[in-house]
Amino acid sequence: MKLIAIYPGSFDPITNGHVDILNRALRLFDKIIVLVADNPAKKPTFSVEERKAMIWESLEDNPKVEVDSTTGLTVHYAEKVGAHALIRGLRAATDFEYEFQMNSANQFINANIESVFFMAKHDFMFISSSTIKEMVIGGVDVSSLVPGPVLKRLKTLK
Ligand code: COA
Repeated sequence: MKLIAIYPGSFDPITNGHVDILNRALRLFDKIIVLVADNPAKKPTFSVEERKAMIWESLEDNPKVEVDSTTGLTVHYAEKVGAHALIRGLRAATDFEYEFQMNSANQFINANIESVFFMAKHDFMFISSSTIKEMVIGGVDVSSLVPGPVLKRLKTLK
């Protein structure tokens, strides 16, 4: 049986923190679908298509990875594609409460789909998509925090 996982998030944009979690999760799963949440209420900086393109370009054609988006519930998407697990990263204790609540909701929807949590690497503990965008606008060099294709697009924000 092929083990399939979904890695959901806003990815506005994808960062090296996300890429690190994905690469570590790829050691455990046969296929991972990076799922961009299409939630206009979050007023994203980049469109869904731009976010998907940046993910693709950053992953360099890994045959074990797919990139998709959904406007619906993550668990419903997971059911549709026959996924077994959801992947989430934890950066700090503050992430825990939110993840605990979301995991409970997801388990209520379908208790057969487990969430698997990866602790962020020390170097990426402080990163979020918003802090990176703020730093770029403030003129900070973020080249060690995001993949090259993301850096290129972030420069257009200045
Ligand atoms: N490295 C760096 N940054 C990380 C990170 C990591 N490993 N993990 C999370 N982050 C950052 C993100 O960049 C994002 O930063 P921002 O707030 O500055 O934009 C922030 O942490 C939140 O991360 P993200 O993982 O994108 O979560 P989210 O809250 O944007 O997305 C969904 C959560 C999309 C997975 C969730 O809301 C969802 O599944 N939605 C669909 C509806 C649904 O099924 N709801 C649940 C049941 S009702």
